Amino acid sequence: MFKNIGIIGAGAMGSAIAEVFAYNEFNVVLKDVNMDFATRGLKHIEKIVDDYNSYYERLPEREVSRIERMGLKLSLEQKEKINNYFSHKIDKNDLEKRIKITDKYENLSKCDLVIEAAFEKQEIKNGIFKEISGYLSDDAIMATNTSSLSVTEMASYYKNPKKVILMHFFNPPYTLPLVEIAPSTQGSDDAAKQAYDLLKGMKNHRNNMQPVMTRDKTGFIVNRILLQVINEAIKVYDENIATKEDIDTAMKYGAGFPMGPFELADYVGLDIVYDVLKTFKDVYGDRFNLSETLTNLIRAGYMGRKSGRGFYDYTK
Ligand SMILES: NC(=O)c1ccc[n+]([C@@H]2O[C@H](COP(=O)([O-])OP(=O)(O)OC[C@H]3O[C@@H](n4cnc5c(N)ncnc54)[C@H](O)[C@@H]3O)[C@@H](O)[C@H]2O)c1
Repeated sequence: MFKNIGIIGAGAMGSAIAEVFAYNEFNVVLKDVNMDFATRGLKHIEKIVDDYNSYYERLPEREVSRIERMGLKLSLEQKEKINNYFSHKIDKNDLEKRIKITDKYENLSKCDLVIEAAFEKQEIKNGIFKEISGYLSDDAIMATNTSSLSVTEMASYYKNPKKVILMHFFNPPYTLPLVEIAPSTQGSDDAAKQAYDLLKGMKNHRNNMQPVMTRDKTGFIVNRILLQVINEAIKVYDENIATKEDIDTAMKYGAGFPMGPFELADYVGLDIVYDVLKTFKDVYGDRFNLSETLTNLIRAGYMGRKSGRGFYDYTK
């Protein structure tokens, strides 16, 4: 039933979500506010594909030397088998043919599903839902990738709130398979179920996509828990209990985290972490109190990896 997918916002998430749908052979229209930003999104997609291809290009050689380091000598035939086993390559031209970029809402009119991934600001998202209303068919599903904002409020700006859902992907969606799905409060479980079934049939670069159902409650599942961990890590650092490096090490080696909380915050973007924590504080109160350390980093323009500096310096 789904064929054409629209993505609004060609930033870090929107372009990566577009890549996942194109990888699964859907036609994708990727929209941003102007063609420069949309083109930047396409360049990001090219980089995702290049990184994937060069990883798999090096993989057979690495596997052969791993085996040979054990003292085993592989025949040419065995090496060939290893080569074939790991020969995953994305055809970049083929994938890019499925993606059209645009700066116009009207080019999304044939989409069966549109996912909004613009800035994490309720007014901006409400405005997008209002504007897109005039262009989509009555059957189309309109989703938001918000990390913390009200889906129900966005739905009230859309012509048919029953078709509005949350589809919250994780960063980066081409390796992290989880997607949290929820209907808006005035929505129907039917649209959410359709999105759930769609994702169940999809894969990213590493796994099958893994949707879970939730409700439109601020922060949903993962962020509500994870942002508390990041916030608490900043408080531990503020109280001079440990350095940020040691806190990251402790959480990786003691709690099994793949990234420490400061590394994760820099990866997600400190502006996003800040905006989400502010929303959580409004809704859940003092347990999400913001640290001045984070506020000062934002004021200094340190947004994490994307700006070259956050808790850590990435310019060296
Ligand atoms: N970064 C993450 O780790 C992460 C993870 C999950 C969800 N999210 C959510 O995804 C959304 C996008 O986050 P991001 O990190 O990709 O942000 P980003 O700043 O990288 O990208 C946002 C893009 O949206 C565009 N945009 C703004 N208004 C628009 C409009 N009216 N029409 C079209 N495009 C518009 C901007 O020009 C920009 O290119 C946010 O809601 C965020 O909370 C982010």
